[in-house]
Amino acid sequence: MTERTPLIAGNWKMNLDHLQSIALIQKLAWTLIEKSHDFKDVEVCVIPPFTALRSAQTLIDAEKFELSIGAQDISKHKAGAYTGEISGQMLSKLAVKYVVVGHSERRQYHGESDELVRDKVAACFASGLIPIICVGETQEQLESHGPSAIPVRQTLEALKGHESLKEFVVAYEPVWAIGTGQIASPEQADQVAAEVRSAILGEHGELAEQVRILYGGSVKAGNVASFMQGPNIDGVLVGGASLDSDEFAGISRYKKHIVL
Ligand code: 13P
Repeated sequence: MTERTPLIAGNWKMNLDHLQSIALIQKLAWTLIEKSHDFKDVEVCVIPPFTALRSAQTLIDAEKFELSIGAQDISKHKAGAYTGEISGQMLSKLAVKYVVVGHSERRQYHGESDELVRDKVAACFASGLIPIICVGETQEQLESHGPSAIPVRQTLEALKGHESLKEFVVAYEPVWAIGTGQIASPEQADQVAAEVRSAILGEHGELAEQVRILYGGSVKAGNVASFMQGPNIDGVLVGGASLDSDEFAGISRYKKHIVL
């Protein structure tokens, strides 16, 4: 029997210095503990900026909070003269478990190609990190191709050519739903997730059943339940609402056991 433990991940983007990050993690963890959050049932992950990772690690370790840590990006290189880059090895030393790869903001503002995303997935695998591969269509692409063609293509491109695939997560984030207050309909999100899963099954076989597929884009405590109802959605990737501890705790409390 296989289970996909739901993952609720908060991508803080370029917000909060390390002191503010400590305060938010502390507040979030205590809110979850007070509300008797079952950390085994729903994994909660914070994804602060690089500058707060060390503080997050120290705090989570000292207080034994059951929170996972993610990073927002990774270098495709192992080490060397790459000014400004952060390697997988550096991240894994900080107890980082997940890395956001190919977020639409990086594809859009930093020109990240499918090829670079693939290299970053490989860098994650090489350092024992789990990539959260972000995929999603723009409004224009939605109108010209429908919702699933781009997410399916981006997923398969990111998974191509690896010696062997290790654990990874896919986050379906329609670009037009990010930070806009607009959301994909839960039916559409589940349908895209189903098509992504079946494409992974077609190319890479049964590991597709283990892959967690998240929805992201204007998720809030008030709408999370509708997304989690779909059989193919295994959690959410949250931006703005993850900066508010009560709101994010509210999102994290949504329980779902997916048993295959
Ligand atoms: P919002 O939740 O602010 O729409 O952001 C979603 C996102 O980009 C998470 O990675």
